[in-house]
Amino acid sequence: MSVILEGKPDKNLILVTGRAHPKLATDVANQLGIDVLETTAYDFANGEMYVRYTESVRGADVFVLQSHAGSVNKAIMEQLIMIDALKRASARSITAVCPVLGYSRQDKKHRGREPISCRLVFDLLATAGADRIMSVDLHASQSQGFFNGPVDHLIAMPVLVDYVRDRLDLDNIAVVSPDAGRIRVAEQWAQRLGGGPLAFVHKTRDITRPNQAVANRVVGDVRGKDCVLVDDLIDTAGTIAGACKVLQEAGAKSITVAATHGVLSGPAIERLRNCGAREVVLTDTVPIAPEKRWDGLTVLSIAPLLASAIKAVFTDGSVAELFDTYPTHHGQGFLFA
Ligand code: R5P
Repeated sequence: MSVILEGKPDKNLILVTGRAHPKLATDVANQLGIDVLETTAYDFANGEMYVRYTESVRGADVFVLQSHAGSVNKAIMEQLIMIDALKRASARSITAVCPVLGYSRQDKKHRGREPISCRLVFDLLATAGADRIMSVDLHASQSQGFFNGPVDHLIAMPVLVDYVRDRLDLDNIAVVSPDAGRIRVAEQWAQRLGGGPLAFVHKTRDITRPNQAVANRVVGDVRGKDCVLVDDLIDTAGTIAGACKVLQEAGAKSITVAATHGVLSGPAIERLRNCGAREVVLTDTVPIAPEKRWDGLTVLSIAPLLASAIKAVFTDGSVAELFDTYPTHHGQGFLFA
């Protein structure tokens, strides 16, 4: 009989965070009943970054939370070097948790000689040493295929639907996609809100210039309807403001805007405040500073969803089940799914 040395049966979950959105990491840790592992992180004078974990990570399942927000390129680079440090310190598994994934919108070539930058971000995470990637509402869900390993593509829709459904007359709603590309998502929203009608905005874009879109007209009947306008990301809010304008021209009774990632660059706040929507509902995948908030803005926490997914991954449970069981756990939070 051969003699073997038995390993440790227990395994450890460690959550670490970069500097892009530490509040979200703390909220996730609170949901999980753990602390965020302390990390030393600073910038050199020339902009290079340094990180070091203050405790051993050997043999642990480590989740590296970093929203690719604010200074997007810096956030990505910091997460890459955090992953590299974990790999060299013998973490057992490394999951890159990217509540918002930078460059997600650049997922295909529109013209010759363009990059597919979203693919590059996945490649960088893989090269650094990520075994697994977790993100919320990628611009296109098929981008999961850019990573040759498990991708937990979480959807914020249940969090947003949970909030919106209690505040609207569901018999009078229409779900509106701000462009033709997101009709499938709008359809899922409509299903979860009881099967109301769908509409979409015919949007055209100047692909030679960033953030330039024109909302031409609404396709579908929204007259007298309480419209729920849904999108993955609000950047400069040109898309949403344009959609609100054509919805109002088409006779919408009210507009509620719901989006996952509130990037809110440049003129976004002014546009959203003046777009005529009764409420704008976002999640906090991106930090939203107090000075960017106004009475008509509601920011929902994405932490329960992330914590539930992290817990499911760590315990070899089902992430899909979190979404399949909705709406049975409506209003109860995700850890109870
Ligand atoms: C576009 O396809 C996206 O889903 C968003 O609608 C868009 O990126 C938002 O950008 P902006 O707020 O600058 O119009």
